Amino acid sequence: MELFNVKNKIVLITGATRGIGKSFAEGFRDAGAIVYGTGTKPESIEWMKSAGIEGRVADFTKGEGLKTVIDEIREKHVRLDCLINNAGLAMNVPAAYFKDEDIYKLIDINFVGAFKACQAYYKAQKRDGGVIINISSVLGIVGYSLSSVYSGMKGAVIQMTKSLAAEWVGSNFRINAICPGFMDTEMTDMLKSKPELMKKFNDGIPYKRMGKPIELLGPAIFLASDASSYMTGQILVIDGGLTGIIK
Ligand SMILES: NC(=O)c1ccc[n+]([C@@H]2O[C@H](COP(=O)([O-])OP(=O)(O)OC[C@H]3O[C@@H](n4cnc5c(N)ncnc54)[C@H](OP(=O)(O)O)[C@@H]3O)[C@@H](O)[C@H]2O)c1
Repeated sequence: MELFNVKNKIVLITGATRGIGKSFAEGFRDAGAIVYGTGTKPESIEWMKSAGIEGRVADFTKGEGLKTVIDEIREKHVRLDCLINNAGLAMNVPAAYFKDEDIYKLIDINFVGAFKACQAYYKAQKRDGGVIINISSVLGIVGYSLSSVYSGMKGAVIQMTKSLAAEWVGSNFRINAICPGFMDTEMTDMLKSKPELMKKFNDGIPYKRMGKPIELLGPAIFLASDASSYMTGQILVIDGGLTGIIK
């Protein structure tokens, strides 16, 4: 067994247009995997054409989500070795003032979309088994102001990961989650635009800084490869010490 080897593995990454998903897509490509990445619109996946990544449009708020993409990949490659459920949406809204449409949008994209992707992947791969990596968040573990619905859904992703791991372990599926801390992507632009808030925020992180998307790549390759062959139903927390130590 070659530990950490993802060469020629077929990997599908949702929300691969930017941020963490883009870093995963480029990193798995560089490690020799055949990478499919999704975005919500043709413009956001355009760059993938010249980057050796197969871009596909899949919007979790519309229609069949990922099923069509999974079926197409299986048609071409016969198998899909790993699904990385990375697409997500965050909103900072006081809980008392959340609009219904925003509540359901956050539920649809962060939880229902990820669940349906797992479901479609399982149905397509149930005779072969497979690997799922769900991207949750530290906010699925600890509370944070203005993030009630997002945190709730990220917590749900953790519990979904454990329950699906239990349900599908007999079919040779390994299902784990990564919980990133605060990462330097467009999702955290709002924080970065307020230097005072940002300083206070960084001071609260033992590493004194946000994480870079590339710092999640090693854990993702570990979970996608045989290096984690005896691991399922677990979460890896990658957060610069935020939730693990008292400083
Ligand atoms: N950044 C952080 O601090 C942080 C911390 C913990 C966890 N996370 C989680 O990590 C994942 C990636 O975060 P990120 O910071 O890289 O986010 P990002 O830069 O905002 O990128 C979000 C990705 O999700 C896709 N997406 C948005 N709405 C979608 C929809 N309706 N259907 C399908 N895809 C959709 C986007 O595609 P388009 O470009 O086409 O819109 C984009 O590729 C998310 O699940 C997030 O919750 C992030």
